[in-house]
Amino acid sequence: MRKKIIGLYPGSFDPVTNGHLDISFRASKLCDILYVAVVTNPKKQSFFSLEDRIEFLKRNFQGKSHIRVSSFNGLLVNYAKKIKASIIFRGLRAVSDFEYEFQMALINRTLFQKIETVFLVPSEKYVFLSSSAVKEVAQLGGNIKNFVPPKIVQYIKKKTKNTVSVTKPLHF
Ligand code: COA
Repeated sequence: MRKKIIGLYPGSFDPVTNGHLDISFRASKLCDILYVAVVTNPKKQSFFSLEDRIEFLKRNFQGKSHIRVSSFNGLLVNYAKKIKASIIFRGLRAVSDFEYEFQMALINRTLFQKIETVFLVPSEKYVFLSSSAVKEVAQLGGNIKNFVPPKIVQYIKKKTKNTVSVTKPLHF
């Protein structure tokens, strides 16, 4: 019997966007089981709690038994070893992502020779998206329905409401 190919798509997902979902579904077609894993990153303060970020993902993968939502801390390669993943999937939105991603891929491979990083290109509809942009638009009362999955729009709106104090502009 063929060995199952296990893929790992890691990220902060703070919050998950349509771009992340697009990459997840593309990645899930290239492996038997895909772990979409939320990092608990001490370097990056997240706006949404780990529980929220996991819940947002779970809502969007309901009924997709080959996509598992999980979380990890510490080194990505250690988590990859733990779940027996042979591929790390990452999305490349633009050339500006490349340098950082290239460095990470090489570091990860140096740490764990058996892991390969596969870069996927998101739909052109989502190349401009980032989680920070989504949070900013939501916090300033903008419409995020084209940026995040419908299942989490209301929840994000509720969570981001009144989280920034906007100073009134001065008129001269
Ligand atoms: N659609 C929308 N946004 C996307 C995207 C896509 N397809 N792909 C990336 N992004 C955005 C994210 O929204 C995020 O935006 P933000 O900065 O506004 O929040 C940004 O790109 C990068 O986020 P993400 O993809 O979540 O990566 P990350 O840099 O936060 O985390 C890990 C990447 C988890 C892989 C990395 O931190 C890691 O491996 N951590 C473990 C520690 C480790 O092993 N280190 C050694 C390796 S160097």
